Amino acid sequence: MMKEEVRYGGRTFVPSIPRDEIHEAVIRLADQLNRDYAGKDPIFLVMLNGAFMFASDLVKEVEFDCVVSFMKMSSYAGTCSTGRVSELIGLDVDVRDRDVIIVEDIVESGLTMHEVVDQLKKIGAKTVEICAFVHKPMKLIYHDVKPKYIGLNIKDSFIIGYGLDIDGYARNLPEVYELANG
Ligand code: PRP
Repeated sequence: MMKEEVRYGGRTFVPSIPRDEIHEAVIRLADQLNRDYAGKDPIFLVMLNGAFMFASDLVKEVEFDCVVSFMKMSSYAGTCSTGRVSELIGLDVDVRDRDVIIVEDIVESGLTMHEVVDQLKKIGAKTVEICAFVHKPMKLIYHDVKPKYIGLNIKDSFIIGYGLDIDGYARNLPEVYELANG
C-alpha cells in the first residue's frame, strides 16, 4: 500500500507508480528479453546506483544464461578546458564480442547512456542495448541512445523511489513517488 505522501528535504512527494504497475512493466520487459536473448548468453551491466532495485527484480524473471555485473559513471571536471570528463568505472567483466544489456533506472537526456554505449563499443562489445525502467521521451537529447527496452514512459516530473533518489534518500521506497505540484 502506497503512502499518501512522503517528505524529503522539505519537499512533498505523492504516489506515481504503484507496485503492481512496476511488476507488470518488469514482467513485460523480461518477456521481451527472453524472446530476444534466448541462447545468446548476454552480459547485464547494471548502472549503479539507481538501477539496483529494478535490476534485482528484472534478472529474477530472465530465463536464459547470463552474466550480471555492475558499473558506474564517474563525472568530474577536466583539468583543461574540455569540461565534463566521464569515465566508466568498476567494470570487471570482459565485454569483447559479447552481447551487452545495460540496465538503467531512468533515461532522461540520454547523455549518460550516450557515453556508456560509446565506451562499451570502443572496448569491443558486439551489441549494446539499453533496458530502462523509466524513460522521459520529452527530455531525450541524444536520440542515438533511445532505449530499446522501456518499462514505462513518463512525463517530465521529478520522481523518487524504486532506486531513484533525492540526495541519496528514498532509493529504498518500493514504489515511485513524484514531486507534488511538480
Ligand atoms: C541518473 C540515472 C541515469 C542518469 C539519467 O543517474 O540513474 O544514469 O541520471 O540522466 P541522463 O539520461 O540525463 O544522463 P545519477 O547521476 O543520478 O546517479 P545514480 O544512479 O547514482 O542516482
